Amino acid sequence: MSAVRFLLNGTPCSEDGAPPSMTVLDWLRTRAHLTGTKEGCAEGDCGACTIVLGRRVDGSLQLRAVNSCLMMLPQIDNCAVLTVEGLAGPDGALHPVQQALVDADATQCGFCTPGFVMAMFAFHHGGEPADTAIVHEALAGNLCRCTGYRPIAAACRRVAHGPADRFVAELPALADALSALPVGVDYHYGAQTFLAPRSLAALFAAMAQVSGRNPARGRHRSRAARQQGPRGAAARDLARGR
Ligand code: FES
Ligand code: FES
Repeated sequence: MSAVRFLLNGTPCSEDGAPPSMTVLDWLRTRAHLTGTKEGCAEGDCGACTIVLGRRVDGSLQLRAVNSCLMMLPQIDNCAVLTVEGLAGPDGALHPVQQALVDADATQCGFCTPGFVMAMFAFHHGGEPADTAIVHEALAGNLCRCTGYRPIAAACRRVAHGPADRFVAELPALADALSALPVGVDYHYGAQTFLAPRSLAALFAAMAQVSGRNPARGRHRSRAARQQGPRGAAARDLARGR
C-alpha cells in the first residue's frame, strides 16, 4: 500500500488513509489536531496557514515558507514539515521569533500570528539581510487585519541577525532522518491516484496518461492550469512541487 511519509516537527509520520485531494492544512488540523495553523482565505492570499517545509538539497535541509491551504497532502512526501507547535523549546521557552513578536507588541487578536511566526522563522534561517524591502518581501504573503505591520516588520528585522536557535544544531539530524525515508512513489487512495513523476519523461508519460495527449509534441495545457499557474491543477495532480 502506498503512503505519504514525512517528518512532522521532527517525528516520522506515515499517512495512507487520506484522499490525495486533502490539503495539508486540513490534514494538520483534522488528522494531526495541530490547530495552531489557521485557515483564513483557503486560497493562498492571507498566509494564516503558513508552515515551513524542509527539503534535502545537496545533503542539507533547505527551508521554505509555504501556504498549506494550497498544498495537497502527497506534496509533503519526503519533506520535513514544521508547524508553529514545533518551534518552542522542550522547556516551553519561546522561539526567538515568537519572543520578538511579543517584545514588539506585534499581535492583537492573534489569528494571523502563527502564519507570521512561520514566515519569520523561514526568514530567520534564510540568511538574508534585514533591509526593509527584503523584510517586506518576506512578509508579503501574510496579512494582518488589526495590529498593523510596523511592529511586525520591526520584530522581523530584529530576528534577522538575532540569536541562533536550537534548529541550527538540529537541522543536520533532520536532513539525515529525511534521507532514511523511502523514496516516494505514486500515492493511491481508493479510486484516486496522485501521480509523482520524478523526471521529465515520467511527467510527460503521466500527462499523456491523464489527458490522452503527448505534451512534448504540442502546447497542451489544461484550462485550469492556464488559469491557476504553477500552483494550479496540473501541479496538484501531476507533481509534488519538486
Ligand atoms: Fe489564507 Fe492559506 S488560508 S493563504
Ligand atoms: Fe489580528 Fe493580525 S493580530 S489579524
